[in-house]
Order: sequence, then structure tokens, then C-alpha cells
Amino acid sequence: MSQYTDNLDSLLADQKSGFSLPQPFYVSEDIFKEDMANIFYQNWLYAIPACQVAEPGNFVIHKVGSYSVLIVRGQDKEVRAFHNTCRHRGSVLCKSKSGQLAKIVCPYHQWTYELDGKLLFARDMGDNFDPADHALKPVHCRNLAGLIYICLADEAPDFSAFADLATPYLEVHDLNDARVAHVSTIVEKGNWKLVWENNRECYHCVGNHPALCRTFSLDPNVAGVSPNGSVSEQLQAHFDRCEAAGAPSQFRISDSGQYRLARMPLQEKAFGYTMDRQAAVSKPLGRVALPDAGTLLKFHYPSIWSHYLPDISMTFRVVPISATETEVTTTWLVNKNAVEGVDYDLERLTEVWVATNDEDREVVENNQEGIESPAYQPGPYSAGQESGVIQFIDWYCETLKTARKQRIPLVEE
Ligand code: FES
Ligand SMILES: [Fe+2]
Repeated sequence: MSQYTDNLDSLLADQKSGFSLPQPFYVSEDIFKEDMANIFYQNWLYAIPACQVAEPGNFVIHKVGSYSVLIVRGQDKEVRAFHNTCRHRGSVLCKSKSGQLAKIVCPYHQWTYELDGKLLFARDMGDNFDPADHALKPVHCRNLAGLIYICLADEAPDFSAFADLATPYLEVHDLNDARVAHVSTIVEKGNWKLVWENNRECYHCVGNHPALCRTFSLDPNVAGVSPNGSVSEQLQAHFDRCEAAGAPSQFRISDSGQYRLARMPLQEKAFGYTMDRQAAVSKPLGRVALPDAGTLLKFHYPSIWSHYLPDISMTFRVVPISATETEVTTTWLVNKNAVEGVDYDLERLTEVWVATNDEDREVVENNQEGIESPAYQPGPYSAGQESGVIQFIDWYCETLKTARKQRIPLVEE
């Protein structure tokens, strides 16, 4: 029995809402395994923008914990996901991170699969061998208005409630017609929950994000939503204006707290995430006709937060690597007809969030380092400034508790 998982249930039961978690939640590899098994392997996860596999045969390999997933667009234009492991003796099928395939050919003995996963060819397997029994194992896969989600669980939880809510908000951003302008992948030396905690508050923004603070509003009356979902008159007027212009904007959060959408204004006279506060791309991505519509903020635990502006969209994908390391992948999406050097400058497009991500990496790493001290004890969140963190931690504890009740524990207790 491990040091922590044997009392994980009591740690969860004792967790006081409004306080950071006890040290083991941020450092223990056993609790990390529980997080992966109960949260990341059970829930719908954002993987890639659909436009990253725009053409039939385009593929991307997405790794989550022990899993390697092949995401590929078929000849019929459908995007599908499969476990990247051969049905013969299990060799990994695709070694490159992305590329173009006519068929999926295993490098070991050349079993050959169609892009829809059917086994097409397996040499000398005898008369009793039925290729139909050896298709690639599918992974649940959905295209949500241009965002590809996967689920590694045998039985995926319902996706439709989320899709029904999110689709109208996202559709106006035309993500299926986007192009990836830039991808940045960084590894933060911090537990994945610290990455989320940091994301869910802007208490740290004034002291750490000089570039972001040129455009992102820190005024809680402008950018804030109270924990019960009530909004200031000013913010309601912004939602109403955007909705009148055809862009769904109202604050919505799911009952479980797993996902939220709201189109929040940037600072006055700020039109994009740039140092000069103007739009980053002259050819907009999507049909949000108000240049000052601000940013549609969408989070969906545990794998994505994202921003959708009138000119660009950005996704931030969270993949835990170990108890103390988390990969964060940021993808900048632009209109597919926007030309670099003509309609936008790549440096200008990316500099604010490249800097912000690096600043966030540093504060997350500092947080992790301090928590690793034996002197660390859980501290209080600010109800005014960190209600989003409280919301995330409450969601995490509830989700883990519920999942542990429903699943056979990894460690015999
Ligand atoms: S392991 Fe793939 S063909 Fe043998
Ligand atoms: Fe930040």
C-alpha cells in the first residue's frame, strides 16, 4: 500500500473548501496515477484543432499518460482517433508526431490498415485469420465546431450537453476553416493542478504579466463574474451588445462546474492580444463583427482553456507528464487565407502569450518548489480574487471522490 493512496479518501474528505490542497496532491506519484486514471483517462479531452488534420491522410499523434493516440482524417473527411498500437504484436504504428498517410502501415511486419482503422492486409496469417477481428482499436472522438476531443474511457461520458451549449458560441469563430499559425509547447515543472489554479485567477496578473496587462482587463466589474454567476451591469451590457451582433456571449457554467463559457471584454480600446492593443491579424477568423467583442473564454477541465477573439483563436492544452511536470501546448489559429507577412506578423501575433506563458511557467514552478518544502501548509484562497481557483479545486475533489467510488481503486486498500 502506498503512503498516500491508502488515505486519499480521507484526505479528500478532510479537504476544506477555500484552501489549497495538502502537499501530497501536488507531489505524490501515487496521487498523480489516481488523477490520470480517474480524471484524464475518464473524461473528454481536447486534443487538437481539426484544421491541424485538414486533408484526408493528415495525422497527429497525441500522447496522454501511457496512451498514444493516432488522430487521422479519413478519405471520407471524417476525423477519427485510434490507439497507436498494432493489432498484431503491439508495435507502435506511427513514430512521427504528425504527417501524411495513404494507409497506416506498421513498421514491424507491415500489417496495413485503412485510415478508418480497418485491417486491409496481413501477410501469411493463414486461412483462419479474419482481418475483421483485427481492426485498430478506436478512441472516442468528436469534432466540436473545429476542436477535436477524444475520450480514452471504454464508455465515454455524455458529450452532447457540452456540445449543445458550446457549439453556438464556437461556430461563429469558423474554427473548421482556420489554419494553425503557430504552436508552442512548454513543460512547466509543476503539478497539473497548479497550472490550472494559476490559470483560474488573475490575482497574479498585475505582478507578473506586463504584456498581457496592456489589454486584458483586471477590473472585476468589467471582467469578473461572481461565484454565483451574477454579473455587473457593465458586463451584462457587453454580453447583450455582442449577442445583438450575433455572437453568443452570456456567462454559462455547467452544473458540475467542468466547463464554462463567457465572452469577456478586453480593456477599453483594446482589440486584440498585441503590444499595441490592435487586432493581430487583418483578415479576421470567424464572423464576430464587433472588433471590441473581447475574448470568448472557454475552459473545460481537465484539458483546455481557450480564447476566441474577433481576429484569432487560441487553445491552451494541458497534459500532465508526472506529479511535478505538465505540458502546456498553445496553438494560435488564424483565418486560413491570412498570409504571414501580409495579413499578420508572426512575432506580433504571438509575443504577448509567449511572454505570458513563460511568466506563468515561472510562477507555477515557484509555487511547486515552495510546496515541496516540509514547511508548506495549505493556505486560504482570496474569495474575491481567487473564486475561480476555489471552483476548480472543488470540482477536482468532487470529481476524484465520485470517480473513486465508481471505479476499482488502482491500489488495493
Ligand atoms: S507488430 Fe505490427 S505488423 Fe507485427
Ligand atoms: Fe497568468
